Amino acid sequence: MALHIGSVAPDFTQESTEGTIHFHDWIGNHWAVLFSHPKDFTPVCTTELGMVSKLKAEFDKRNCKVIGVSVDDVNSHRGWIKDIEETQNTRMNFPILGDADRKVSKLYDMIHPEANDTLTVRSVFIIDPNKKIRAIITYPASTGRNFQEILRAIDSLQLTDKYQVATPVDWKDGDDVIIVPALKDPAELKQKFPKGYKELRPYLRMTPQPNK
Ligand code: BEZ
Repeated sequence: MALHIGSVAPDFTQESTEGTIHFHDWIGNHWAVLFSHPKDFTPVCTTELGMVSKLKAEFDKRNCKVIGVSVDDVNSHRGWIKDIEETQNTRMNFPILGDADRKVSKLYDMIHPEANDTLTVRSVFIIDPNKKIRAIITYPASTGRNFQEILRAIDSLQLTDKYQVATPVDWKDGDDVIIVPALKDPAELKQKFPKGYKELRPYLRMTPQPNK
């Protein structure tokens, strides 16, 4: 069955570079980002994994665990990690799932046969502590992802879970946000947004980020 925003993230047990992962147990009470790599010892993936290891503290700040998956086995990943660390000048600090049997790739529909029969595309799944998929991003193998954008999406999800707001184009943490159009009662608006708001249109009301 196709996975959508709101679907329960499929659970699995699979080996990784940090031991056996029971996925839902591993997520625990955290957010999680599961992201796929077409193959080991490939250049774009090498740069992406290096970048995520450098950004690990930023994911930690957001109570978010990160885990990669690539369709080779864990022994191959271990050899590749040496290259990632040397070429990207970093230390790997999160697990990469082995997926030679394509268990995870298939469960998460990461193989797009029109692109390639056996390798994954670059999928990203942002998963919340209830194990619900909250965002899905898909890039082709030839395009490296922007992990700052993934952090930004997590910030938006965590903020909009807490307050009746949505985040506008290119928003980043600290910028003004949009009050959801469904909220109309003046007393409620005053109570929920004590800093006030600017009404550009009845459906477009900007307010300072409530938790800043
Ligand atoms: C890469 O990660 O560099 C890559 C993988 C598959 C196809 C093209 C590039």
